Amino acid sequence: MAAFLEAVPARIRTLGAYQPGKSIRQAEQESGVSCIKLASNENPYGPSPLAVAAMQRELAGVNFYPDQDSLDLRAALATYAGVQPEQVLPTAGSSDLILLLLRLLLGPGSNAVGGDLSFFLYRIMTKSVGGTLKQVPMVNHAYDLDAIAAAIDHNTRVVLLANPNNPTGTLFTADEFERFLDKVPARVVVALDEAYSDYAEEFAVRRNVVWSRAFDYVRQGRNVLVLRTFSKAHGLAAVRCGWGAGPAELIGMLAKLRTLFSVSSVAQAAALAALGDLEHIHKSAIANAEGEAALSHALAEAGYPGVPTWGNFIFVETGEPALEVAAKLEKQGVIVRPMKAWGAPTAIRVSIGTSAQNELFLTAFRKVMPAH
Ligand SMILES: Cc1ncc(COP(=O)(O)O)c(C=O)c1O
Repeated sequence: MAAFLEAVPARIRTLGAYQPGKSIRQAEQESGVSCIKLASNENPYGPSPLAVAAMQRELAGVNFYPDQDSLDLRAALATYAGVQPEQVLPTAGSSDLILLLLRLLLGPGSNAVGGDLSFFLYRIMTKSVGGTLKQVPMVNHAYDLDAIAAAIDHNTRVVLLANPNNPTGTLFTADEFERFLDKVPARVVVALDEAYSDYAEEFAVRRNVVWSRAFDYVRQGRNVLVLRTFSKAHGLAAVRCGWGAGPAELIGMLAKLRTLFSVSSVAQAAALAALGDLEHIHKSAIANAEGEAALSHALAEAGYPGVPTWGNFIFVETGEPALEVAAKLEKQGVIVRPMKAWGAPTAIRVSIGTSAQNELFLTAFRKVMPAH
């Protein structure tokens, strides 16, 4: 090892890199067949057309640095959430904001609490700042909120909850969350990661459930940081824009930690336009709910029922080594996400695609999996 690397803390040297879903190009090179990607919970219907037009308009001005304070976007997000602009912070994707929060509050000797089958990035990011993640066992693939509350100790600074949860797609209701929040000491920040909010909202209407009152807690000044993203229903994953809403003092500190100009002018313009493109969001969420019904039904018929989902993906227990299942599906032209690294060695997560993509997946799945 180079001498200068001895100064690097062991936790960074041993840090595993986040393994994103395989790109179509790489999968096609490896498998030699043309592929579709259902591995990263992206919007299969593309970006908001209004966002594309806004980005095109913005391009001629990229010789200027962007607005560091994202004033227009911040104002629009504050109106959307019904909170004050000082309570809102756009970042380069919501994962950037999770890292800022952990950098701010966590370090050697302190911990975050979460579930043991949740967004893999939480683990990497917690470790990268020197803290530990107390991973509380899930029950029926869902968070056990009572056990999570009980796991909070004197060294806990943050609770990390994805709702719906990635990768299992499970949800806790607004009432369940409120009962949980009442048990969390005020010195602990609850990061309520609602990356899949637009999909959950559509399911919640269909299933007659109140799934979230997240912005109420911000208005009430509670110890909650709500995280949202433009990477999912808005179809802007490559543009890198997410945002959070929380106590103004917390937001102010997080803002100071940001990388300068990390939200580009192109991203700000895209997000602003996408936020207002209700038609695109609704169309995407409705198509997702319809795709979910078809896919879940077909998987159950094939003998592999997925975990009932509130997001744009389905977690499927295959009973076979996940890496092998994913490799076989790839040979059939479908990229899914094996869940081995996430803690589920025999499960895959498949994103809900267009109906044609879902059909391709099902055909491939039936071909490679033993009949049940
Ligand atoms: C639960 C959850 N939070 C956050 C993110 C990160 O999204 P972004 O693209 O905004 O960084 C994802 C992406 O898959 C996610 O599943």
